[in-house]
Amino acid sequence: MTIDIREADDVDHPALAAVVEAAFGEQGASVNDVMARLRGTEDMAVELVAESDGEVVGCVALSRAWLDARERLVDVLVLSPLAVAPDHQRQGIGGRLLAAVPGVAEGLGAPLVFLEGDPRYYGRHGWSAASAHDLERPSRRIPEPACQVLLLREHEPWMTGRLVYPDVWWRSDLVGLRDPELAEIESTLNVD
Ligand SMILES: CC(C)(COP(=O)(O)OP(=O)(O)OC[C@H]1O[C@@H](n2cnc3c(N)ncnc32)[C@H](O)[C@@H]1OP(=O)(O)O)[C@@H](O)C(=O)NCCC(=O)NCCS
Repeated sequence: MTIDIREADDVDHPALAAVVEAAFGEQGASVNDVMARLRGTEDMAVELVAESDGEVVGCVALSRAWLDARERLVDVLVLSPLAVAPDHQRQGIGGRLLAAVPGVAEGLGAPLVFLEGDPRYYGRHGWSAASAHDLERPSRRIPEPACQVLLLREHEPWMTGRLVYPDVWWRSDLVGLRDPELAEIESTLNVD
């Protein structure tokens, strides 16, 4: 099986939406709604697809956000979603998509990429807890260890502060988790 990672075209959008829906289940529709709203705006940075024999089997998107640092607002990126079609999971495709992110994000001049996700998965791919770098989550409903960050070449020590999402994420209520899922995830991450 050969996996190609490439930038998404407009014609890929239906296939990307299908992968997201299959991977995320119930939440897939809201994620796809946010993607549709972001596309064609300055808040969307880049979407990558993973292709296997001409079939789109995975995707990752980077969109724009800010770090509210003491000195100024800093343009940063947010990774969301990362999705692999269920019948192609556990074959390293998610890892391949993540491996492409630092180069793409540095090409865009970003100093930091944030995401919300399981530290046990992302920790294997060079991500670490934002809190370890004096970086604050935009909501207490993101369990602290789940606010993950990738520090890139352009990162400088003064770049500390709170991550601020554009309002499109809030309008779809896609920032963090809500109970009872929040409480369940916190218990698996040993968060008080
Ligand atoms: C998370 C996801 C993108 C991983 O894609 P993938 O192609 O299966 O990933 P890889 O093959 O590179 O890695 C698979 C490994 O990661 C592990 N893994 C996947 N999700 C994990 C999680 N949440 N926590 C810990 N480990 C996880 C798998 O168990 C597997 O481990 P193994 O190799 O020891 O068996 C995919 O499972 C997916 O689309 N999930 C649904 C959507 C989602 O949750 N996206 C992430 C939102 S933050």
